[in-house]
Amino acid sequence: MDIHVIAGDCPRFAADTLIIGLFEDAADNPALAALDSALGGEIARLRNLNDFTGEFNALLTLYPGDAIPAGRVVVVGLGKAEAMNPARATEAMATAVKQADGLGAKQVATAAPAPAGGREVMVTEAMVVGSKLALYRYDRFKTFGEMVDKQVNIKALTVVVAEGDAVEPIAAAAAAGAAIADAVTLARDLQNAPGGHLPPEALSDQALAMCAKAGVEARSLGLDAMAELKMGALLGVAQGSAEEPRLIVMDYVPEGESGGTVAICGKGVTFDTGGISLKPGLKMGDMKFDMSGAAATIGIIQAAAALELPLRVVGIVAAVENMPDGRAVKPGDVLTAMNGKTIEVDNTDAEGRLVLADALCYAREFAPDAIVDMATLTGAVIIALGHHASGMMGTNAELNRRVSAAGEFTGERVWELPLWEEYEAGIKGKTADINNTGGRPAGTINGGMFLKHFAGDVPWCHLDIAGTAWDVTEKAHIGPGGTGVGVRLITQLLREWAGPPQSG
Ligand code: BES
Ligand code: MN
Ligand code: ZN
Repeated sequence: MDIHVIAGDCPRFAADTLIIGLFEDAADNPALAALDSALGGEIARLRNLNDFTGEFNALLTLYPGDAIPAGRVVVVGLGKAEAMNPARATEAMATAVKQADGLGAKQVATAAPAPAGGREVMVTEAMVVGSKLALYRYDRFKTFGEMVDKQVNIKALTVVVAEGDAVEPIAAAAAAGAAIADAVTLARDLQNAPGGHLPPEALSDQALAMCAKAGVEARSLGLDAMAELKMGALLGVAQGSAEEPRLIVMDYVPEGESGGTVAICGKGVTFDTGGISLKPGLKMGDMKFDMSGAAATIGIIQAAAALELPLRVVGIVAAVENMPDGRAVKPGDVLTAMNGKTIEVDNTDAEGRLVLADALCYAREFAPDAIVDMATLTGAVIIALGHHASGMMGTNAELNRRVSAAGEFTGERVWELPLWEEYEAGIKGKTADINNTGGRPAGTINGGMFLKHFAGDVPWCHLDIAGTAWDVTEKAHIGPGGTGVGVRLITQLLREWAGPPQSG
């Protein structure tokens, strides 16, 4: 979908479909008023009859005849004006775009939000993100033969800025929104790729290709380089697979002055069978998504470069496949991580924390101001939070607060779980320093407690995205399959990084 920004009179714009938002409680929406006067007050009549109240995400399609150039108008409910925020703007716009696309719209136009002290810029960006994500689908393996899946109709969205209002900030916001949506799309494509099509080496190739295009310095370490670094935990997981592991390092350095360094670590288990502690068959196919943290990390680096963020962002992906094999690591085996800590492998299915252990150690070599890791680490986080929030744990209250704020802003919410020292007893090793599992109680926290041993004293935040990375309760901007979770969240965190402390 192409995005255009122009100055003009939205109701007069020659698109086949206009999209307009309607608040539940506030009538003072100049774009709506202009359209409604062109329509002879039809929307006001519907509202007065209570036939359309503007309830959030509610839809109404009007066919204005000769009143305006557009053949149809999709009205979307925006809910209460005071509740409007970027997350809701993304969702409402996605709802409307999906509706328009389903009706066969090809050229869609909408009015830019009226100037509101800079808010209009945030809302425009969110609207563009929602529009593009609404039309995402993964059809690489669909042949579109007889049993055609519906293809996307919409080719372009034009955001029409009212005459006299500034076009430039709206155009910049639309471009930023498009860049963020493209980064989410990249992450989703990587997630949705079957495990057999995206083993560690292929994931590495994709990451390096993205970096080459974006002008980001990148390299990929193989077996020997990792052995040299004594990454025994990561290599322990990899030894059961015929696929070689990769440690992918993407180093975005800003052109101008740098506001610090943030490292992002992603769990990149390209397929997780559980290893010798083999998973049951039910839904095992979902474990192609076990590299969702990696996918987000790669998307974030692309977004950082596209947005030219004024800080250094180092993305580190631990890419391995977890397989059962004659050479595979066995329950009871002891592995030694890069920082020298010894790990008893109680369960080979708790492999994510093993690969991240070495990735975190490696991240510290960059002397970052903060480390954020993202991982589909535990099924337990789905029991705790369902699909509406990622689990957050960390060692720095200010960092956690910033991540939370970014979550509210983007709608990619997080919820904090504690890392109290009492939980340490749960992962104490019998023959080694620490155990890679801690039984069923507090399964998600055990994962966090384990990783803490490798984050050192760098402010660190761990996001368990097992419940949010795929097949979440659908929203218009989040379809089935991979969600790209983490890209919008952490990109927002990074954008705010160099700025003043966030409120809320
Ligand atoms: N990748 C899984 C976590 C997972 C499971 C994510 C189901 C989404 C849905 C992870 O590697 C894993 O297997 N974790 C184990 C840990 C346990 C053995 C301590 C789990 O959650 O059961
Ligand atoms: Mn596992
Ligand atoms: Zn896993």
